[in-house]
Amino acid sequence: MEFNTSTGPVHSTRTGCLIVGIYEGKKLTPSARQLDEESDGIIKTALKGGDLSGSLGQTLMLTAPQGLSCERLLLVGCGKEKELKDRSYRQIVQAAARALLGTKAKEALCSLAELPVPERELDWKVRQFIEAAGHAAYRFDQMKSKKKDEERPVLRKVSFPYTTRGEGALIKLGIVQGRAINDGIDLTKDLSNLPGNICTPSYLADQARALARQHKSIKTTILDEKQMEKLGMGALLSVSRGSRQPAKLIVMEFTGTTAKNKQKPIVLVGKGLTFDAGGISLKPAAAMDEMKYDMCGGASVFGTMKAIAEMELPINVVGVVPSSENLPDGDANKPGDIVTTMSGQTVEILNTDAEGRLILCDALTYSKKFDPSLVIDIATLTGACIVALGSHAAGLLANDDELAVKLLEAGQKSGDRAWQLPLWEEYDEQLKSPFADMANIGGKGAGTITAASFLARYTKEYKWAHLDIAGTAWLSNAEKGATGRPVPLLTQFLIDKAKGN
Ligand code: BES
Ligand code: MN
Ligand code: ZN
Repeated sequence: MEFNTSTGPVHSTRTGCLIVGIYEGKKLTPSARQLDEESDGIIKTALKGGDLSGSLGQTLMLTAPQGLSCERLLLVGCGKEKELKDRSYRQIVQAAARALLGTKAKEALCSLAELPVPERELDWKVRQFIEAAGHAAYRFDQMKSKKKDEERPVLRKVSFPYTTRGEGALIKLGIVQGRAINDGIDLTKDLSNLPGNICTPSYLADQARALARQHKSIKTTILDEKQMEKLGMGALLSVSRGSRQPAKLIVMEFTGTTAKNKQKPIVLVGKGLTFDAGGISLKPAAAMDEMKYDMCGGASVFGTMKAIAEMELPINVVGVVPSSENLPDGDANKPGDIVTTMSGQTVEILNTDAEGRLILCDALTYSKKFDPSLVIDIATLTGACIVALGSHAAGLLANDDELAVKLLEAGQKSGDRAWQLPLWEEYDEQLKSPFADMANIGGKGAGTITAASFLARYTKEYKWAHLDIAGTAWLSNAEKGATGRPVPLLTQFLIDKAKGN
């Protein structure tokens, strides 16, 4: 899908679908009023029919509207003008995008960015529409033998009208960012939705090499088990011992055009567990298929790397994805086993299903070699995070308050929110083991925090934040599928960093 700007007056622009907003109580937005005047009252007539009151998220499609140059006119309910905020604006563009993608329109002109949203500029509003269109257009049919063409979206281009040069520049910025974020989200969703028998650690490694071929600014290095053994990654390798698929440590280094080698990099570490059966502490059968999504953190690192490479952000970022399966096997970890991590600390594995922290801790220790300015890890780490926050927010834990605040703000702005939990010493004490330096589980209570406390023992030497995306990375039931989160949050954070914030 392409996006661009458009000058000429909205009413005389030829397009497959023109999108305008109507506030609650049938109140016309500026573009709607203009169209109504130019067309001899087509909108007021339609509203008189009573099919649209303007309540939030309603849509009404008028085909071949008389007196206008468009093939379709899509009216979108915007709710109360005074109540228009981030969330309601997103609901408006989501409803519009869904209705638009349901038609056979190849081109559209979207005037919704004219609606005033407190504290938000045109670039933000354009981006929201582009992301909504991306979500509505996304299909995962790679694994279907017969692809249904009639279900494929046909929309090719969306334009955004502007009048002043300043508006045009902001819209263009929103388009560049929106397109990059969408491409990142799509890559993340594709990798995440693939089944575990196809998306193995080796497959992910190949995809990382492919990313480096597509973007000259990215260099990919893959460490195999022998190299990890030499580095002493005893925790990571203990997880993959129960699997016939060799583990991989995937490293993607992005060097920004003007950043070159001057700046310390930001390191993103993503859990790449391509299937988590739990190991000897086997998971119950119900919904176990969803554990193919246990690599969503890793996939979000891929997507974020893609997005920043497309935007050519002037920063340096390293993506590190430890990747393995977690399966029961004669050679798998057993409860009570003790392993030595790359950091030298020993871990008693009381539950083999708490494997994410075992592969992450070695990747976090490894990350020190990049002399990072800060490190963020992203992981589908604990079911407890779903209990605490549901599917609306990622869990955020950090050893640096300034970093935590910036991530929370990036979440607010992108609509891909996180919520902070404490990392107090009391929680860390739950990890005590009589036999090793620590246990890999913290017992009853605060599962998300004790998991993060475990990771915190490996991140003392740099600024670090942890995002637990167990509840946000994918949806279950009827809407089953990856969400692409937290690519919007991470990309927003990096855009802000590139601006020097
Ligand atoms: N990948 C899971 C966490 C998970 C479970 C994410 C369900 C999303 C949905 C992780 O490896 C795991 O199994 N965690 C255990 C930890 C426990 C053994 C301390 C959990 O959350 O039950
Ligand atoms: Mn597990
Ligand atoms: Zn897991």
